[in-house]
Amino acid sequence: MIIQSKNNRQVLLRKLIPHDIDKLTGYFQKLGPETLKRYGPHGFDKQSLFELFKNAGYHTAYIAEDAETSEIIAYSVILSGYLEHDNFRLQSYGLTLSHKTDGTFAPSVADEWQSLGVGNSLFHFMLADLKLNGIKRIILWGGVQSDNQKAVNYYLKNGFRILGEFEYNGRNYDMILEIY
Ligand SMILES: CC(C)(COP(=O)(O)OP(=O)(O)OC[C@H]1O[C@@H](n2cnc3c(N)ncnc32)[C@H](O)[C@@H]1OP(=O)(O)O)[C@@H](O)C(=O)NCCC(=O)NCCS
Repeated sequence: MIIQSKNNRQVLLRKLIPHDIDKLTGYFQKLGPETLKRYGPHGFDKQSLFELFKNAGYHTAYIAEDAETSEIIAYSVILSGYLEHDNFRLQSYGLTLSHKTDGTFAPSVADEWQSLGVGNSLFHFMLADLKLNGIKRIILWGGVQSDNQKAVNYYLKNGFRILGEFEYNGRNYDMILEIY
């Protein structure tokens, strides 16, 4: 799917395929310190990415590419189900978790492409696919730092709600989106 970003560039949205892993490594290498302070759901080296995506279906990633250069400019990953180490905390809010209908989500956009509508577009692209695959609820991967205003706004804008907060290197929010 092609969209137009707020800087009038054509952007291609699509699912990640194993062939993209080298290019994706380059995307992570270019992330700046401010983004890396906010984003680190998994290892960014080639081996970690290979391990992550070798079992089809467990992790699914969606990417945005600059249509002119084919460079990856955004990456969102969703894990089927929930992270075991978040289970206790999420249950404390009264959630009954499911590996079938929950998805755990972590979005990112390249520094110079942030705030141009790419994150929102990639989210809606992903959501349509998740609906087709029976996902009913999206949980944030490790929550969101409460002072990450850009991301908190982005989640609220996309219908997420705050479940509660927890301390881990500062204050964080757990947020979820129920999909109807
Ligand atoms: C959070 C992130 C994924 C959002 O994607 P994006 O492409 O920058 O966001 P968009 O341009 O699509 O904007 C979506 C919404 O985000 C919020 N937002 C975006 N830029 C913002 C800014 N500079 N200040 C405040 N809110 C902002 C707004 O609510 C915006 O909606 P609006 O345009 O209708 O006001 C992206 O900024 C990012 O990768 N940040 C660094 C990594 C990160 O924090 N990941 C999340 C970890 S939990």
